[in-house]
Order: sequence, then C-alpha cells, then structure tokens
Amino acid sequence: MASARPVPSRHLLGIDGMSRDDLEEILDLTDTFAEVGRRTIPKVPALRGRTVASLFFENSTRTRLSFETAARRLSADTMTFTSGSSSLSKGESLRDTVEVIGSYGADAIVVRHAMAGTAHRLAGWTDAAVINAGDGCHEHPTQALLDCYTLREARGDLDGMRIGIVGDIRHSRVARSNVLAFTLLGAEVLLIAPPTLLPPSTEGWPVTVTHDLDASLPDLDACYLLRLQRERISEGLIPSIREYAADFGLDARRASRLPDDALILHPGPTNLGVELTSEVAADHRSLILDQVANGVSLRMAVLFLLLGSGRDLVPDGVRDELPDEEAPGP
Ligand code: NCD
Repeated sequence: MASARPVPSRHLLGIDGMSRDDLEEILDLTDTFAEVGRRTIPKVPALRGRTVASLFFENSTRTRLSFETAARRLSADTMTFTSGSSSLSKGESLRDTVEVIGSYGADAIVVRHAMAGTAHRLAGWTDAAVINAGDGCHEHPTQALLDCYTLREARGDLDGMRIGIVGDIRHSRVARSNVLAFTLLGAEVLLIAPPTLLPPSTEGWPVTVTHDLDASLPDLDACYLLRLQRERISEGLIPSIREYAADFGLDARRASRLPDDALILHPGPTNLGVELTSEVAADHRSLILDQVANGVSLRMAVLFLLLGSGRDLVPDGVRDELPDEEAPGP
C-alpha cells in the first residue's frame, strides 16, 4: 500500500554488501549522537514528524528499547507492534501487518523475525525504510555495528585485532554479521566452537576455526561470547549445558589466560554460568555494559542516515530487487 509522502528506498538489511566506508560513516556519525546522549536533555529535533515502527515477532529487550529510545531522542514518533498482542493470532499475515503499519504513516520499520530473509521481503512490500533487527540465524547488522563502535571506542580502530567469537556460531545472526563487519574493518576473526555448533560449512568465511578455547585465549585481543541459542538448538547438538559451560564457558580461571588488556564482549542477554560467569561479566576488561549504552547512539545514527539525510544503505546486489523510487527518470 503506497503512502502519500515521498517514498524512500533506503534500508539496512545486513552487513553483507556494505563497504568499509559505509561502516565507518555510521561509526563516525555515532560519535555525534553519543555526544547528544551526554547532554542534560538528550534530544534533537532531527526526525521531528517522522514515525519509526518496531515490529517484533521475537522477544527482545535491548534491541527494541534502544531503537525506541533512539527514535525518541531524534524526536520521531514511535509505534510498537509485538506479535503476542496482535491480530496475527487471528490469522493475519505478515504482509497485512506491514501494510497496516505503512498506512498509519511509518517512515521506518524495525523488524525482528525468526525467519531468515524477513527484512528483505518486507523491503519489497513497503515504502518505509526497513531495518533488520535480527532475521532468524541470518543477520543482525545494528548489533555488529554497535560492537564495532564499542571496540573502536576502546582501541581506536580494529585493524589487526585478533577477535575470537566463541560458542553457538551455528544459530547466531550476531556471529554472521560480526564476522563480516569485523573483517571489513581489518580485524582477524577466529571462530571457537564445538563442531556441532559451527555452521555446516564455513567455506568462504574469512575466518580461522578452532575447537580449543583454552589454547586460543592467550592470543586474543577480544573475546566475543555468544549466547547459546536454546530456542533454535535441536536435540543432541550439545551433550548438556553443564558440559558446554565446562568446555566453552568463560570463568575467572579461563579469563586469566586472556592478555591483561584483552576485551570481553557479549551481545546479551547473557546466560550467567553458561557462556560466562558473573565475575567475568563484571571484569574490568568487560565491555558488556558499553555495548548496551552504545546501542542507542548507534541506532540514532542509523535512523538519521536512513530517514534524515537521504543516504542509501542498500547494498548494490539487493538494490536491483527493490523498488528504487530515486532512480533518475528517462
Ligand atoms: C541477540 C539477538 O537477538 O540476536 N541479542 C540482541 O540483539 N541483543 C543475541 C542473542 O539473543 O543471543
């Protein structure tokens, strides 16, 4: 359903297809919005009159709240949809839902769904800018961007950093987006996981793979722990949570094998006692709370770029499949 307002064709669907310059532009702009966040009244009129809808078919605390906080700090109006309380339970389709949201004037739709490719599909159905807030095991681009921002804030840049991504790589959209983003910014990525929690093939991934966490820790500049995606894990992939934690959980003993200045990250929500202990979460090297705080500034930058500045974040390959209202006329 077309809206009466000017039609944007701007989306953030994944890190795949983005360039180092694209990423750096977003990270640079995030600095500006972090400054806004430190003001007594952390609000600017940049998106006054625009509406940001969040459309969450899977649970979320950080991502949804930080997008909504970001939208409000930019003076946009917000609209929230969660699947539990909607007419989906009456059989309404995803497409109907998107059209309803579009007809109420959403300029951007932030979407999370258990099915890979959902954000891409939405981009073909709506005039609003679509932002992928997590599609199944596929991508979670704003998480990767905020992680890059957090590492950059701690270290200046990611060039030459050795980053270990640990745990349930197989089911993690965060891992997929982060492998792409970290390597685009010049880091080296090591995937550390039991064979059953790796994707069926990592061929073509710009990574090294190992199953030995203890041996890898001393060489890491950053250790990025992933949540065990219990909602996506089928029976038998791990012997038991306790055994997983014994081999891949970061406790104080293991954390002491990391260099003194290594960084520890986790996208949240954390399963304390599984991926890491509460002691490690509170370690002076842990950036977990910085990740949460930076999520708001980063998402302000993304919303501003998509809705405020006329920049197009659609990668070239995807662009051809989407309606492009900005293509020059004949
Ligand atoms: C991540 C997600 O939902 O993919 N969480 C988040 O956005 N902060 C990671 C996770 O749930 O494990």
